Amino acid sequence: MTLRAVVKGVGHYLPERVVPNSYFEESLDTSNEWIVARSGIERRHFAAEGETTSDLATKAAEMALASAGMTGADLDAIIIATSTADLTFPSAATMVQARIGNTKGFAFDVQAVCAGFVFALTNANALILSGQARRVMVIGAETFSRIMDWTDRSTCVLFGDGAGAVILEAEEGTGANTDRGILATDLNSDGSYRDLLYVDGGVSTKTTGVLRMEGKEVFRHAVEKLAETAHTALEKVGLGSDDVNWVVPHQANIRIIQSTAKKLGVGMDRVVVTVQDHGNTSAASIPLALSVGVQNGQIKKGDLVVTEAIGGGLAWGSVVLRW
Ligand code: ACO
Repeated sequence: MTLRAVVKGVGHYLPERVVPNSYFEESLDTSNEWIVARSGIERRHFAAEGETTSDLATKAAEMALASAGMTGADLDAIIIATSTADLTFPSAATMVQARIGNTKGFAFDVQAVCAGFVFALTNANALILSGQARRVMVIGAETFSRIMDWTDRSTCVLFGDGAGAVILEAEEGTGANTDRGILATDLNSDGSYRDLLYVDGGVSTKTTGVLRMEGKEVFRHAVEKLAETAHTALEKVGLGSDDVNWVVPHQANIRIIQSTAKKLGVGMDRVVVTVQDHGNTSAASIPLALSVGVQNGQIKKGDLVVTEAIGGGLAWGSVVLRW
């Protein structure tokens, strides 16, 4: 018998305010046509004044708990992947923990920017496989609208706010790749690429800062590294592209998603795409896409799902799971 971390619930939340591309035409030298052609993004959601990352995360958590038929008290651990927590401390995860009525578990944040959800999922899997927790909620939640330079047309049109959550529970599997649950993970980082994507402020500099990005370079690394990490994770459990039902990629840019799918040998009819409606929500993008994919009937129980993401660091990775 092999222990597996199996998905028991999924949920998401998007702030009410929807911002179409035309919004940026008023203040910047840009157009809806340029944004759609270069990124695939048509609209994104922005959090309301005073609405924070833990607010979005709590709503996604509540939907995931309802879908799992659980209450907050049933969880052993809560992990939030975020780069935009409400406060320097305490963690966003402990704030959500209090709001969903959990006092017995442990909660912490993981920071790997856009790859954060894949890193958090891998940590949750390790906690479950090592017997330290049986039920773990993993949330990706961001308010990237708070770290935009609104005068930089090459970045501020690309990002959005949102949250997604999954609940994992320990279950006995057979050890075969036909088991439900997380089957393989692959994590990577290379800090020498620091200057390609970063926020030019932080606690230690007593500023908040705004996002800076060398878009073309990030694009190049993304396609190469995302296809590689997904292949690596699949190979670890003797699976290949033909076995994949759904690729659920980090939703940064439709052209990255298409090029990576092509390199992976997976047709776009097997890729969950939400970037047109959400923009890039960093660590929230994969759990948001998983939840939307389940909601609209794409992802079903037993499907082989491959997630892959890359973000600032650079940090990148992939998780292969059977839904
Ligand atoms: N509207 C109009 N023109 C624009 C805009 C805009 N919003 N933004 C840039 N331009 C201009 C540039 O100034 C440039 O003009 P120039 O030729 O006169 O200098 C021209 O468009 C082309 O710019 P490029 O940067 O070469 O355009 P590119 O085709 O590379 O697209 C983009 C830019 C969309 C940023 C692309 O490089 C990209 O998506 N990169 C990856 C970004 C990404 O995914 N980051 C996130 C991953 S990690 C994370 O999620 C944090």
